[in-house]
Amino acid sequence: MRHVVADVRAKGQSIALVPTMGALHEGHLTLIDEAKNVADVVVMSIFVNPLQFAPSEDFARYPRTLDEDAKLASERGVDFLFTPTKEDVYPEHAPVVFVHPGSIGKEWEGAVRPHHFEGVLTIVAKLFNIVMPDVAVFGQKDLQQAAAVKAMVRDLNFPVGILVAPIVRDPDGLAMSSRNRYLSPRDRELGLILSRALFAMRDAFAKGERRASALEATGWRMLERVVGLTPRYLAAVNADTFQRVNNVRHGDAAVGAVRVGETKLIDNIIF
Ligand code: PAF
Repeated sequence: MRHVVADVRAKGQSIALVPTMGALHEGHLTLIDEAKNVADVVVMSIFVNPLQFAPSEDFARYPRTLDEDAKLASERGVDFLFTPTKEDVYPEHAPVVFVHPGSIGKEWEGAVRPHHFEGVLTIVAKLFNIVMPDVAVFGQKDLQQAAAVKAMVRDLNFPVGILVAPIVRDPDGLAMSSRNRYLSPRDRELGLILSRALFAMRDAFAKGERRASALEATGWRMLERVVGLTPRYLAAVNADTFQRVNNVRHGDAAVGAVRVGETKLIDNIIF
């Protein structure tokens, strides 16, 4: 990868990185489109990062579809696919030094998955140091992750621009995710309630409601009605700090997570 980067730089070309864990879907492919718009060369990384999974989570069964991913990525215009092994990335098995996500890492997804954002920021920092991109593109689907990465770039002075591309949804509104392939048709129907609850919050905001508690109550009422779906959190937050807000303003976000069967779904909207 370093040789590739050196060659690209020698030609005076810029690099955009699209970091992924593979199992690519249209949401990832639109990140490639964004990357191509802003840089000469697009590098996509595919690495299922053990550091961001808790022992109880789905690291072992996370979908690994490298051949299909390589085809999709190259058809969409990726110039270089970086697919390191676990041993390439963590030759000493586990790093000694980690990137700590601070307060952003404690809330919402961070509260449910205590070391998750530390694992994400550590691998993203490593990828930035290996690929040395001018720009990196992340999906809004993982909005808290994008906020944590932006904070890391700001606080640790990484010379990388961060682009956040909008969520891509199936026609019924479900946010695309590699984990959607775990869902049975019934679980999928249940999972849709999360996006509908978030849309209801956005509609109430559009009609003038600004109290976070009222907007959250609108969403919670929809989630709590559904048997078979376990709500984890639903809140109105500042989209940069991920702290809960009392009065919602344009640019704030509503973030939510539910469990259906064995699968956890997350989603968000920007007010
Ligand atoms: O969003 C993801 O797929 C992962 O969290 C990332 C950014 C590739 C880090 O492993």
